[in-house]
Amino acid sequence: MSLDQFLHELDELAHSAAAAFDAAADADALEQARVAFLGARSGKLKAVQKGLGRIEAGDRPAAGKRFNEAKSSIEAAFESAHQRLAAAARPKSRDEQFDPTLPGHARRLGRLHPITQTIVELVDIMGRLGFTVAYGPEIEDEWHNFQALNIPPDHPARDPLENLYLRDADDGKGGALLLRSQTSTVQIRVMEQTPPPVRVISLGRVYRPDTADATHFPMFHQMEGLWVDRGVTMAHLKSVLRLFVTSYLGKDVHIRFRPSFFPFTEPSVEVDMSWNDGWIELGGAGMVDPHVLTSVGYDPEEVSGFAFGLGVERLCMRRHGITDIREFYRNDARFLRQF
Ligand code: DAH
Repeated sequence: MSLDQFLHELDELAHSAAAAFDAAADADALEQARVAFLGARSGKLKAVQKGLGRIEAGDRPAAGKRFNEAKSSIEAAFESAHQRLAAAARPKSRDEQFDPTLPGHARRLGRLHPITQTIVELVDIMGRLGFTVAYGPEIEDEWHNFQALNIPPDHPARDPLENLYLRDADDGKGGALLLRSQTSTVQIRVMEQTPPPVRVISLGRVYRPDTADATHFPMFHQMEGLWVDRGVTMAHLKSVLRLFVTSYLGKDVHIRFRPSFFPFTEPSVEVDMSWNDGWIELGGAGMVDPHVLTSVGYDPEEVSGFAFGLGVERLCMRRHGITDIREFYRNDARFLRQF
């Protein structure tokens, strides 16, 4: 065989071996190609090697050198294919996995409960009318929940069936404790600590043993308001409530007063707001009863005031067209996420 012919065969072989190794898609395919080209018994390289013996003696050293070069290059091609498959099989590092072209994972943000959002807004509106915020405890004594509000011991509002008294606690003076049934308690707490004038609201939970239905829940929220100063009248009360309701619900919403009775106001009214060609009750209000002013050490000859207590859930329901109060407390995220 001529040297040229031998070298040509060698070149061809190196070429096709490299192509076969490159094309191997997995370890099995690569092993098959290895056996086909580099196999010790019947590999194609072995076959070409046999041709060496048939080369003229003078050309043999050159042919041998070229043979060794070709063998190294085929082995190198095998090695790099081997590395390529090993790299593909190895788990990727975070950097290699990161694909900036993929869509991101949106983080879902939490949000305030609709009642909390309502409270924040009510505080803001009343703040613009000059009312500051006061807080009181949810566990109350009978003085603040009843007695100081002119609700005497034999009054039906104090019936254990109408309230959530705490069985194993007392006020330390032999009196009972209960979950407050109204935020009017905070009127008393504020006036006991502050001389007039006062202009405050208090928002928070109240508790009553009511069966839950579309309009009742054993826990709900009230906004209490109190303004005591010289010369405060019913006209101030109505103006404040009208400004408040139209600020929260819109200019087209009307309010009306209906005569009513509460032990801690005289005269007393129910406050209604217009809704769907009718009226819906928003809460109670009135001029603070002189008995209440005296019970906290105010002089009813000097100052007068008005008070009101409104349902927070009602306002929020009216605003958003919610028809069942229980929705607020089911903790169904699909409902809550709408606000
Ligand atoms: N506390 C009353 C209730 O829960 C509501 C109320 C009525 C509050 C008249 C007031 C008021 O401040 O003056 O039913």
